Amino acid sequence: MLEATLTRDGIDARVSELKARREALVEANRYFYLQPTVGPVNHRATMADGRDMVMLASYSYLGLIGHPRIDAAAIAAVEQYGTGAGGVRLLTGTNDLHERLEARIAEFCKREDACVYSSGYVTNLAIITGLTGPGDLILMDKLDHASIVDGALLSGAKWRTYRHNDMEHLEKLLASAQGEYNTILVAADSVFSMDGDVMDLPTTKALCVKYGARLMVDEAHSIGSLGETGHGIEEHFDMVGSIDLKMGTLSKSIPSVGGYLAGDAALIDYQRHMSRPFIFSAALPPASTAAALEAFNVIDDEPWRVKDLHRIQEFYTDGLKAQGWDTMDSTTCVVPVLVGDEGKTMDLTRMLFDRGVFVCPIVHPAVPRGSDRLRTCLMSTHTEEDISQVLDAFADAGRELGLI
Ligand SMILES: Cc1ncc(COP(=O)(O)O)c(C=O)c1O
Repeated sequence: MLEATLTRDGIDARVSELKARREALVEANRYFYLQPTVGPVNHRATMADGRDMVMLASYSYLGLIGHPRIDAAAIAAVEQYGTGAGGVRLLTGTNDLHERLEARIAEFCKREDACVYSSGYVTNLAIITGLTGPGDLILMDKLDHASIVDGALLSGAKWRTYRHNDMEHLEKLLASAQGEYNTILVAADSVFSMDGDVMDLPTTKALCVKYGARLMVDEAHSIGSLGETGHGIEEHFDMVGSIDLKMGTLSKSIPSVGGYLAGDAALIDYQRHMSRPFIFSAALPPASTAAALEAFNVIDDEPWRVKDLHRIQEFYTDGLKAQGWDTMDSTTCVVPVLVGDEGKTMDLTRMLFDRGVFVCPIVHPAVPRGSDRLRTCLMSTHTEEDISQVLDAFADAGRELGLI
């Protein structure tokens, strides 16, 4: 089996299968990937062909891309440090910007310390492979991000998934694992990136305490967006300090690149010495580090951004529901619009594009068959005019396709 997939013929077969699928989508005017924008992406974006569109697919929930203070911090870092870190964090790559960013993240997350990695994806690999291995068990929500799944696969630990946000199922798995493993790690997304719903932190935490498991939460979509001041899921549930391994990205509300783990000082020190991406992959470059650092300051200095985001997400979601769309269980700025059919999802995307709205279709295998959808994302900078344009486009296209 392994040999067969490694032959050149196997590679050729895969490459030509993808090529045929892509060409068929292009031919049907249903190919929406890799579309270049020019200039900073905010609530509106300019496409490479010059078209101005409402951006309804960006993870930049607080609209901080192009923020003058953040841009200035990045430019000053290049002037002072140049463009590269020159090595891996453990050896020659650490500079004082990294240390300042880590201290600022620890403060923001209300933890003793934090360490940063070169992407959010790599951070999840680093945490899970650094802290678990053979003899351990990882329990993951079925809808956890691919980077958690990949970390579990790489770690050598045993792993199982529980049904999405199903606390009875999680308890069953925890109960049956008692006495069988050295460590049990429960890992969940805070806001699920395809469904826009929120993990049940109170029950998950209670179960972890009851069964002696460690809790890791991925805050990729909750930093900046959840909680009254955007400090994330612990603020949302008023449970500060409840997560053992608090992971987040620097690529969504924080307009940079990278990821972090915040936690107890000894644990973070361990990760700095033992997690492979800290040892074998280059450190964050100065511009990205300085931009991320300033972005945490901006979130705290401009609290109106989080309030605007919450207001606009309610305005938008209520508008969609009033038209008859199913937004699933979303209560956040990530709002799925359920279509349930791959072809119609693609057609809806095209019709919205033609009406000046940039959206992303999410179809099988990214989601189960029959739950094909658009995944739409709000930004605090969206105006009511932007959202009215979007809602008008949804109403027109939805009626034409017989979806509402
Ligand atoms: C829940 C979640 N975790 C981790 C990641 C990876 O983060 P990054 O894109 O910063 O590598 C993503 C990216 O979309 C995500 O949605």
